[in-house]
Amino acid sequence: MCGIIGRVGDGNALEPLLTGLENLEYRGYDSAGVAVQNGSGIKVQKRSGRVEELKESIGDPLTGEVGIGHTRWSTHGPPTDANAHPHTDESEDVAVVHNGIIENYAALRERLAANGYEFTSDTDTEVIPHLVQYYLDAGFDSEAAFRQAIDELEGSYAVTAMVSGEHVLYAARQGSPLVVGMEDGEYFLASDVPAFLEYTDNVVYLEDGDVVVVDEDGVEFTDLEGDSVVRTPETVEWDPEQAGKGEYDHFMLKEINEQPTSLAQAIEGRVDSATERIALSDFEPDTFEDVDSVQFVACGTSYHAALYGSLTLNQAGVQSTALLANEYSVSAPPIDDDTLVIAVTQSGETADTLTALRRADAEGARTLTVTNVVGSTAAREADDALFIRAGPEIGVAATKTFSSQAVMLTLLGQRIAGDLQGEPPADLKSLLPELESMPGRLDDLLASSAAESIAEQYSDSQSYFFIGRGLGFPVALEGALKFKEITYEHAEGFASGELKHGPLALVTPETPVFAIFTGQEDEKTLKNAEEAQTRGAPVIAVCPDGHPAVKAADEHLSIPETEPNLAGLLANVQLQLVSYYAADLLDRPIDKPRNLAKSVTVE
Ligand code: AGP
Repeated sequence: MCGIIGRVGDGNALEPLLTGLENLEYRGYDSAGVAVQNGSGIKVQKRSGRVEELKESIGDPLTGEVGIGHTRWSTHGPPTDANAHPHTDESEDVAVVHNGIIENYAALRERLAANGYEFTSDTDTEVIPHLVQYYLDAGFDSEAAFRQAIDELEGSYAVTAMVSGEHVLYAARQGSPLVVGMEDGEYFLASDVPAFLEYTDNVVYLEDGDVVVVDEDGVEFTDLEGDSVVRTPETVEWDPEQAGKGEYDHFMLKEINEQPTSLAQAIEGRVDSATERIALSDFEPDTFEDVDSVQFVACGTSYHAALYGSLTLNQAGVQSTALLANEYSVSAPPIDDDTLVIAVTQSGETADTLTALRRADAEGARTLTVTNVVGSTAAREADDALFIRAGPEIGVAATKTFSSQAVMLTLLGQRIAGDLQGEPPADLKSLLPELESMPGRLDDLLASSAAESIAEQYSDSQSYFFIGRGLGFPVALEGALKFKEITYEHAEGFASGELKHGPLALVTPETPVFAIFTGQEDEKTLKNAEEAQTRGAPVIAVCPDGHPAVKAADEHLSIPETEPNLAGLLANVQLQLVSYYAADLLDRPIDKPRNLAKSVTVE
């Protein structure tokens, strides 16, 4: 993963570079660095730690109108100062930032070392500046040297480079995201749009194989051979405020509280209870009538949303499975051209999910991506894309995007079932008005949640269990993932009926059990919760007021009454809040949990 930024324009590049790095830090945060170019050559400042520490370490301001920056999530080599990007050749004539993996770096390094080029880091990236320098030494001009170096790389990369004495940036994309931002006389290259959203919303998403040359007069879009390619600028609909923290201490809390709005955006124009229709205008009428089975592929939180989507499809009578994208290459069920493979990915850049999507495509399946990021690789590579319109999500822990994914998958499932069966599913009529009421219900839930006091009450526990049945099961998995990810405490999610098949052995008075009730065989879930309670575990029921579980449980997190298809989403928001407050009590770096990054672009 890692975040890269480059800037060409008037005035000092340092400020937009550091702003870009702060906005990209969710992509990786174990080291950071910048390089700027002025009359006296390239100046580099880099170090292990956060962007904040990098900023503090810049004593004499670095000045220069052209620059590059990087925030890192380590793959090759630990997060040391030496391994931080930008990397340069020995004489600092060439500086490079890179996101991705250079698979043939060992062979390139050996060849360059044999030719006298000295390496100072453990990274795969360092071969790139040396390789460019090698071709400069051989008499190539800078652009030709860059193209030749890129041609020799194997693996995935988004690379941005500059050569001493030039007001130019060179960049190339193969398998890792890279987007160009353009504003009168000022140009940016970045891993993601929020990096430069304060400066411009006019963007071009690069495609694999693109090489661009950027100076203050504009951007030249070419392929590796130097032939022009046409890339059309788009206007990004996100505004910079959406990408900021606003009044909140953490992005995660802001994003949890944004859910009434993000859900309203997701369903806007797509649901009409008056005409009892789902209007997914992204798809032709009856487009899914030939689909005979659906496979979802996804990772992490998106996998839980995919499982949610798959269960709703099964319940609507459509054969469907949710698979972990990283297991797909060894365990994919049979595929034919009537199989619909749906990649669920907030970022649209998760390497595991992209690999699964490409495999499905190669085997002849029809493919569809459900994503938040317009222009992302998954959106561009699939046959169709459905956007969840959640707005930028910066906290590493996915919150609002899970809710929007699950709602869009519920809608999509109804549409697929309707196309296949030739008539709308029976429960569509009652589902649509409930969907339209979701933003209001979420507002009520957020205003009255007891999550903070529950988090306090159980803050000394040893382990946290989450159980649910039917659509409560993916929510139990998601509740546990969120909890462990940001608190670093042990948490596990189970199908409630599974507790007695083993995990019950772990239950003690120190293992609070959050039991999720969605209206699907709740009496059985209540029995399972009581089996844990009998062994001393405190039970926190997540259910509507007046539900039989309220009396039986030790504590209660209230959710508004709704359809089983949507109750789990409301329960999940309560659990997001519990995780948030528990992590806050432990003083964890909530938006940037250790060892993680928002977008995982390696397998
Ligand atoms: C969860 O909070 C994480 N951010 C993580 O599990 C994430 O959902 C996973 O890495 C998949 O990311 P994607 O949705 O961008 O594909």
